[in-house]
Amino acid sequence: AKHVSVGLLGLGTVGSGVVKIIENHQDQLIHQVGCPVKIKKVLVRDLYKKREVQLDSSLLTTDVNEVIQDPDIDVVIEVMGGVEETRQYLLTALKNGKHVVTANKDLMALYGTELLAVASENGCDLFYEASVAGGIPILRSLVDGLASDRITKMMGIVNGTTNYILTKMSKYGRAYEEVLAEAQALGYAEADPTSDVEGLDAARKMAILARLGFSMNIDLQDVYVKGITGITEEDLNYSKRLGYTMKLIGMAHRDGEKVEVSVQPTLLPDSHPLASVNDEYNAVYVYGEAVGETMFYGPGAGSLPTATAVVSDLVAVMKNMRLGVNGRSAVMPQYNKKLKTNSE
Ligand code: NDP
Ligand code: HSE
Repeated sequence: AKHVSVGLLGLGTVGSGVVKIIENHQDQLIHQVGCPVKIKKVLVRDLYKKREVQLDSSLLTTDVNEVIQDPDIDVVIEVMGGVEETRQYLLTALKNGKHVVTANKDLMALYGTELLAVASENGCDLFYEASVAGGIPILRSLVDGLASDRITKMMGIVNGTTNYILTKMSKYGRAYEEVLAEAQALGYAEADPTSDVEGLDAARKMAILARLGFSMNIDLQDVYVKGITGITEEDLNYSKRLGYTMKLIGMAHRDGEKVEVSVQPTLLPDSHPLASVNDEYNAVYVYGEAVGETMFYGPGAGSLPTATAVVSDLVAVMKNMRLGVNGRSAVMPQYNKKLKTNSE
């Protein structure tokens, strides 16, 4: 191919980062896959908005069909968010033979199984590394790096916004509303931050991790979720005095056929390594029967870290295109085994 043609759905925090990396790392991309990457079309809501990146105005559109129906577009990158409408767009893109890269955990937690099956049927890749823990390559590590092991437990901080809020409240005594607004301005929070602060965003990520780590079908309803909205400055001060740090901890645990997945505020002794994961950073412990304990750490939200994961997925797609094979969607664990949970 002379170049690989990309259509972007969304040009917000993550989309702008994707454009920057594609533009500024073109040498790196050519080195990896042997041809340049061109952005052909970008779907937005508002054509006239002032943006982080300046693109030729002819590239912007408000008509999704100019992306998902364009026969010249090879790969659709979905960084717009949303569930039902976005699901339809991606199903159409896949049925039109386009590979898909997405950062959308809401969509993958709810409809990942369906979308992966449609990708497979249509000979397309569907990669979603950025959907969990931003810039940390955790999905790849589970699917590839630890493929030979049996994972028994995963535990960590998988939401940047709430970790940012808890860090600023407990270290500097700052007010909840003020630091939430700051996390929004920095581009860490979801468009509606309720899913961050109520723990749902973390629950979706833990469901995705548990599916991949345990090769089992995890229903979102089976995940116990409690967010940070009930936590007061007093709680944080009191725990600090006792030598503890409050973190929003995601846990996924397998015991034979039984799996438990939860997200809840948890007091950790100050000496615990997760207690010193601050601001928007995330960290995930993965325990495997053979490997023992591994820990993954890095920026869990934000424009360039998340876009790094997205564009690295694009590179993986392009490598597959060059080889004429489909990648992870084809070798994904089969999710058809119904899981027994403790609540059953
Ligand atoms: P933003 O709100 O910053 O950007 C969303 C973009 O999509 C905007 O450009 C918006 O257009 C466009 N858009 C949204 N809905 C529509 C629609 N119905 N039709 C056309 N265009 C639409 O979101 P983020 O970049 O922060 O997040 C994008 C996705 O990435 C989400 O799924 C999020 O969960 C995920 N994600 C975000 C991370 C982060 O740190 N922010 C980290 C990991 C994943 P316009 O600009 O015109 O309004
Ligand atoms: N809102 C999410 C967070 C973005 O704060 O972690 C990264 O998925």
